[in-house]
Amino acid sequence: MINADAVFQSYGRSCDKPVFFEDFYNTLLGKSPDVRALFANTDMASLRALVRGGVLWLIMHARGMPDTKIRMLGESHSKKRMNINPIYYSLWMDSLIETLYKHDPEFSRELEECWRDTLRPSIDIISSMYHS
Ligand code: HEM
Repeated sequence: MINADAVFQSYGRSCDKPVFFEDFYNTLLGKSPDVRALFANTDMASLRALVRGGVLWLIMHARGMPDTKIRMLGESHSKKRMNINPIYYSLWMDSLIETLYKHDPEFSRELEECWRDTLRPSIDIISSMYHS
């Protein structure tokens, strides 16, 4: 079920602790050596700060914000820029859910479905722009 308000509140309970994004990227990078390789030259401290806002853009898009920021992510992650293959978005989402289970004390199976359903339309736009 799409429920941007429940997701926004869940994110608020979780994203303030810096360890949240450390755990998130440790989980994501642990999922595949190919994913790890994509971040070989990345300043992870800066990325952790940027992605904090990036997740918020996905939630705000579900709350009705125009898709301008989502399309910027689509462009930066596209084949000709950072070349993030669309197959990796499910690993990204699974890693986010695993991290939320650790850090949101109110997390549940229901909230997991809300997160997945609420972020899916934005992630579909980003991954559909891979060949753009
Ligand atoms: C929809 C989910 C995602 C969001 C919200 C997101 C967000 C961001 C943001 C905000 C940046 C900073 C640069 C920019 O603004 O474009 C970034 C960079 C990056 N993202 Fe993502 N990302 C997502 C999915 C992914 C996935 C699935 C991968 C690969 C597994 C990935 C790999 C990277 C890499 C390699 C960088 C560049 C780091 C560098 O500058 O070296 N992202 N992402």
